[in-house]
Amino acid sequence: MNMIHPIIKVDSISKRFGGNQAVDHVSIDIPQGSILGLIGPNGSGKTTVLNMLSGELLPDEGAVFLGDLNITGESPSRLVQLGITRMFQMTKVFVRLSAIDNLLIAGQALGLSKSECHERADMLIKELTLQPVQYLDAGQLSGGQKKLLEFGMCFMVPPKVALLDEPFAAVHPVMRQTMSQFIKDRHQKGQTFLLVSHDMPIIKELCEESVCMNAGKIIAKGKTKDVLDNAEVIEAYLGGDHD
Ligand SMILES: Nc1ncnc2c1ncn2[C@@H]1O[C@H](COP(=O)(O)OP(=O)(O)OP(=O)(O)O)[C@@H](O)[C@H]1O
Ligand SMILES: [Mg+2]
Repeated sequence: MNMIHPIIKVDSISKRFGGNQAVDHVSIDIPQGSILGLIGPNGSGKTTVLNMLSGELLPDEGAVFLGDLNITGESPSRLVQLGITRMFQMTKVFVRLSAIDNLLIAGQALGLSKSECHERADMLIKELTLQPVQYLDAGQLSGGQKKLLEFGMCFMVPPKVALLDEPFAAVHPVMRQTMSQFIKDRHQKGQTFLLVSHDMPIIKELCEESVCMNAGKIIAKGKTKDVLDNAEVIEAYLGGDHD
């Protein structure tokens, strides 16, 4: 048994799309306070796993637990209330609202008072270096700035677990730095993350432990360094199908 109690326990979940077994009996423990890496080649099932953790998709089989609570089949909005929040591979912000209003709306949806909303939004805007663009429509922000804004929206109320799907993809290096610093700072304060990324240097830097999927199954888990050196993992990245 793990020394650190898992905050999320994924118990043998599966998902099939037509004839495609996208996720095949995947079990993952996310230890409290960890940044757990989830890696694997394109199409290996990472986003589908996240979709089942955040309630976007219902597993065909298996269960997901938050602490002792079985949360399988709960809606995304209920899961946000319970403290599971996620960032999407494709950024979701309200493009016609200003950056700051996006944060205020997220805070309001999470039940913060008006003054709490403003206080936290101002703090996050500074922390995420978005002051220069805070009154612009979110649609006018760069891809990286939109990602930073989405981070802010997820952290208006710090979640129990933050699920991050490729937050660094196509983001300017300066903003990547802001983002990884944000993750490190929150981790220091005990925040738990599940981080999906194709960026191995960042996975190595941020994640002590990782899980690697290939073709819907977990093929390696443990210390990130060992996972990345694992022959089957290397083979999956070199030999798998590319799309
Ligand atoms: N809604 C869907 N309907 C049908 N097939 C899907 C759906 N979502 C994912 N798939 C398929 O399931 C498999 C796993 O996809 P998934 O998006 O989970 O992979 P991934 O590991 O996140 O890949 P990437 O690294 O490219 O983001 C793929 O074969 C994909 O085409
Ligand atoms: Mg994906």
